[in-house]
Order: sequence, then C-alpha cells, then structure tokens
Amino acid sequence: MTSSKLIVANHKMNMTSMDINQYLKKIKKEINVENVIICPTSIYIPYFLKHIFKVGIQNVFYENKGAYTGEISPRQAKSMEIDYAIVGHSERRNYFLETNQEINKKVRLCLKNNLEVILCIGETKEEKRNRKTEQVLEQELLENLEGVKEFENIIIAYEPIWAIGSKKTPTMKEIELSIRFIKQIMKKYYHVDNIPVIYGGSVSEENVQEIATIPKLDGVLVGGASIKEEFINIAKTILKVDKNEQNSTNIPKTR
Ligand code: PGA
Repeated sequence: MTSSKLIVANHKMNMTSMDINQYLKKIKKEINVENVIICPTSIYIPYFLKHIFKVGIQNVFYENKGAYTGEISPRQAKSMEIDYAIVGHSERRNYFLETNQEINKKVRLCLKNNLEVILCIGETKEEKRNRKTEQVLEQELLENLEGVKEFENIIIAYEPIWAIGSKKTPTMKEIELSIRFIKQIMKKYYHVDNIPVIYGGSVSEENVQEIATIPKLDGVLVGGASIKEEFINIAKTILKVDKNEQNSTNIPKTR
C-alpha cells in the first residue's frame, strides 16, 4: 500500500538497541507502507534497512571522505542503501552551530550522491513575534539551496523552531500560509512547481487529524512521538486522510 503523503520519523538520540528490537517488531507489523521514512540514530540504521519503509540519516557531513572524526558522508550513507538525509535540522543549527552555507554544501553533496534531502527550515519564537516568519523562510530557502539545479530529490520540512518538542503548534491557518509561501518562493526563484512541503513540530496523535487535512500539505515530520506507540496511530491517521482525499478527487463532481 502506498500514500501520497510522507510520514517521516526522526528518532534523534533516543532508544537503545533493546528498545529498537521491540520498536521494529511493532512497526513492522503495523505499518505496512512505503511512504514512511524512518531516521534512526545512525548506529542503529542497519536494523532498519530492507523493510518496506524507507530509511533516512539524521545528518551528514559536507565532504565525501577524509579525516573528519565522527562524521558520516553522503557517499557512505548512500553505500548503505540509505535513501534520505535530514539536513539543517534546527537542533543541528542550534547546538552544532551549522550555518546556512554549511547546510548548502551538505544539500549539494547529498544530491550529487543521489540521497534525497529533507531540508528543515523555520522561524524562532522571537522571529514569529516580530512577524519575520516569511523573511526567515525566504532567506533559508535562498541560502540553503543556492546553486541547486535539480529539485526532484528535495523535500522541504517547515519546522517552526518554537514548536519542536514544545507541545505547541501554529494554528492550522498559519501552517497553511507558510506552506503556500514556501511553494511560492520555490516557484519564484527556482521555477519549481509543487515541491513537497511537510510540517514538523509537536505532531501527535491528538493533532495529526487536523494537521493532515491542511491544504497543500505533503506530509509530516514526527520527532518525540515517533519513538512511541503513538507513531502507529499517527501513520494510520495520515493514511486514512490520504485515502479519503484520493477517493473524493475520483468522484465526478455533480453540477
Ligand atoms: P517534535 O520534533 O515532533 O518532537 O516536536 C520534530 C522535529 O524535531 O523534527
């Protein structure tokens, strides 16, 4: 079974190998879809390969090889049959001081190595308060994607930084407006129609139904809730909404 909406799980630095065994057993049984992308902590990636869902890496370095202790390159990730890389997550920008220029180098090297990029962008609380959300999104899209020519392998994750791990989300209207804005910018500067834009930031089983029905939304990125049982319900809800949307677009409209 497949769905047109993406469901990305970002495990961050959570779970031990014992937890992973249990987790994997559950999701293998319950989540039988291709559009789920699991991004485990890197050392556990091998456990997640060769299942129906896809696998992503939470970060990569911006060189393909060399003396960079502790880093993993896009080429190495691809050689493990990893298909996706999260790039520019706000925790990387914040704790590891990644700049827009470094993120741009990472994006470009991933694309060169045929890794699909999930590029995270979003505003801080203060930027939101000062009504700078659009300005921030535009600047990040311009700097992070500078020089990129091929966009088929790019997914944008709109992740307001203040919503991550806070149990707070923007209103559905605000998410919709930001998604539309991102798509407009991609069209204006890069001439790309319909780039997939997903939402991340405190997605849970309580709010996913509402989030999934936001117009033009192409999926969700789930952090904290992705390591819990709740993730199964989140994925099922997305699939249900998706199926309903597909059915309703197939019904000929009566005049
Ligand atoms: P959260 O994390 O779902 O725990 O808010 C989302 C993210 O960091 O991508």
